[in-house]
Amino acid sequence: MSIKFVETKNLKAKPDVSKIGFGTHFTDYMFVMDYDAAQGWHDARIVPHEKILLDPANATLHYGQAIFDGLKAYRNRGKAVVFRATDHLKRLNVSAKILDIPEIPFDIMHEGLMKLIDIEKDWIPTEKGQSLYIRPFVFATDEVLGVSVSKNYKFIIILSPVAAYYAHGFSPVKIMVEDKYVRAVRGGLGAAKTPANYAASLHAGLAAHEIGFDQVLWLDGVERKYIEEVGSMNILFKIAGEIVSPSPQIQTSILDGITRRTVNQVAKAWGVPVVERRISIDEVIAAHEDGRLEEVFGSGTAAVISPVGVLRYKGKDYVIGDGKTGAFAQKMYDYIEGLHIGEVEDTFGFVEVAGEF
Ligand code: COI
Repeated sequence: MSIKFVETKNLKAKPDVSKIGFGTHFTDYMFVMDYDAAQGWHDARIVPHEKILLDPANATLHYGQAIFDGLKAYRNRGKAVVFRATDHLKRLNVSAKILDIPEIPFDIMHEGLMKLIDIEKDWIPTEKGQSLYIRPFVFATDEVLGVSVSKNYKFIIILSPVAAYYAHGFSPVKIMVEDKYVRAVRGGLGAAKTPANYAASLHAGLAAHEIGFDQVLWLDGVERKYIEEVGSMNILFKIAGEIVSPSPQIQTSILDGITRRTVNQVAKAWGVPVVERRISIDEVIAAHEDGRLEEVFGSGTAAVISPVGVLRYKGKDYVIGDGKTGAFAQKMYDYIEGLHIGEVEDTFGFVEVAGEF
């Protein structure tokens, strides 16, 4: 399948780098592809970023059959690169399977993404800590009110120059351990990147914000005991020298985070012990109380690494490492940022080149 390019002369002004924020500015072009039963995925094209017209009966608006992923492009020693593009696009197809969306041919979405980044590379911000956030997503386009798996879909990739995900930048966040609401349950949609999981997080997130917390930490939906994830990121603990994180293989209601994989791969390469297993909130609190909980931090594409300074559980605040960024989280953040921009040699094969400046 060839990719058509519809050029526009009407290019936008780039935003002021000091006011980029997260996900509020969009580039000039987007990649689009359609699916129907007769043609499969077809009509791959790069077109100006523009509004899309939907029928009010669009199935996604009513029943949410949609998936997405999030990855980033960087300026890396004179090249425009995408970090772990292959892994992110493969995960999009994992989400597709969970939501019964027809598999997207890997080669065409990878080629489309790389072409789009090459065309839009001047939008990759030049400031340290900033990047071009890539949002591929797929949604049902049937126009029918009966609840059923859609027969038609649209795949789109949009791009947004971004700064740090949290407005206060790379500094410790305050997290509330949620023991009333749940995000996902075993056998549900938790492993998919699908809007429903984010909708499920809004009410608890708002309540946490109102009392000065950045995010909530979800516990498992059955026993309300085991650590799951934060929603916009996975969570990792440094306990007595070991990096512990919930296992997406055992806990099927969490997202198999690609930045979490990066952290664990890098930590192993450094010789730091890494374990993925079930970990209960009681174990975390006990480790804090006897001084073995050294660090807590989140990982995600948007946040990269986000140190946690305070955990609130059942009304009590547990301050981690004096509320300051831990040495391991700082070293990991610097290393991963180094991989992104080419200051650290990529011995893992994470960096995929889309174009040259
Ligand atoms: C990401 O880290 O890319 C995410 O998808 C988290 C959030 C912005 C939804």
